[in-house]
Amino acid sequence: MKVAHTTTRGIAFRGLAEEVLRDPTFRRQYRRKVQLIFTSPPFPLNRKKKYGNLQGEEYIEWLASFAPIFCGFLKPNGSIVMEIGNAWKPGSPVMSTLALEALLAFMKKGKLHLCQQFICHHPARLPSPAQWVTVKRVRVKDSYTHLWWMSPTEHPKADNRKVLRDYSPSMLKLLRNKRYNAGRRPSQHSIGKKSFFKNNKGAIPPNVLTYANTKSNDEYQEHCRRHGLMPHPARMPAGLPKFFIKFLTGPRSLVLDPFAGSNTTGAVAELLKRRWVAIEPDKDYLKGSKGRFLAAKEKRA
Ligand SMILES: C[S@@+](CC[C@H](N)C(=O)[O-])C[C@H]1O[C@@H](n2cnc3c(N)ncnc32)[C@H](O)[C@@H]1O
Repeated sequence: MKVAHTTTRGIAFRGLAEEVLRDPTFRRQYRRKVQLIFTSPPFPLNRKKKYGNLQGEEYIEWLASFAPIFCGFLKPNGSIVMEIGNAWKPGSPVMSTLALEALLAFMKKGKLHLCQQFICHHPARLPSPAQWVTVKRVRVKDSYTHLWWMSPTEHPKADNRKVLRDYSPSMLKLLRNKRYNAGRRPSQHSIGKKSFFKNNKGAIPPNVLTYANTKSNDEYQEHCRRHGLMPHPARMPAGLPKFFIKFLTGPRSLVLDPFAGSNTTGAVAELLKRRWVAIEPDKDYLKGSKGRFLAAKEKRA
């Protein structure tokens, strides 16, 4: 188990998750201490990325084998949030259900509850699968990933007041004018005036999230360019871990990303004053990930 780098709040280990998570020193240090495991495991993709992917049954078994291991690191009210993308059958315009089967196997093996399902829409994603979307024109752009929020308990730590959004202009107008047709809606929901006009300092967000890879990734890419490193091919937008870390953890909570890649999770945890642990086997991805923390350091200085 090699330490790749550390910060005041976090530590990145170089190695395979299956090995690092079984290391006795690692287990002693982090067992039952983690509030949130936020991760995006390698997907079963058609096109091999640099780090390779297992396929079929092997992938399902491999991912599911992590469920009991992850649970051993969680606090009793902890959560696991896993981002899993869509997959397509090679050479065919039909989707693979592998990711869903892997998720179900993972939940079963860990005896996990599905607390809520989220969709992350990536508006800037290139049209894919290209053959069927841009050449044959028989499918539309595949532009979202799923995030599955799971926990060993039905009541993990969570507070949606930590992730409120700005009110829309029409809601702000309503709150100002206090004029609204209260009563029963066509959907049979009844809206009381009192509760509707209460200013809760923001709107409760939906479970559809939209983020683009922006500023923080520009800084990361600049760091990679300067050091002759290939940027990670499957980075997640920083807004994603930010939403779940705020929603499901508190200050100083411990956040673990066992498939850390460019360590978007660790960098966001650091900015939000949470402690973090990252695991990634690829030396270059780890070198590149240091750039995320340099940018944060410069910003604080
Ligand atoms: C989808 S990427 C994660 C991207 C990351 N969320 C980010 O924003 O950069 C999955 C990562 O898992 C790593 N990986 C593959 N097999 C692994 C294993 N057995 N243990 C730990 N990490 C692994 C890959 O090298 C890759 O960087």
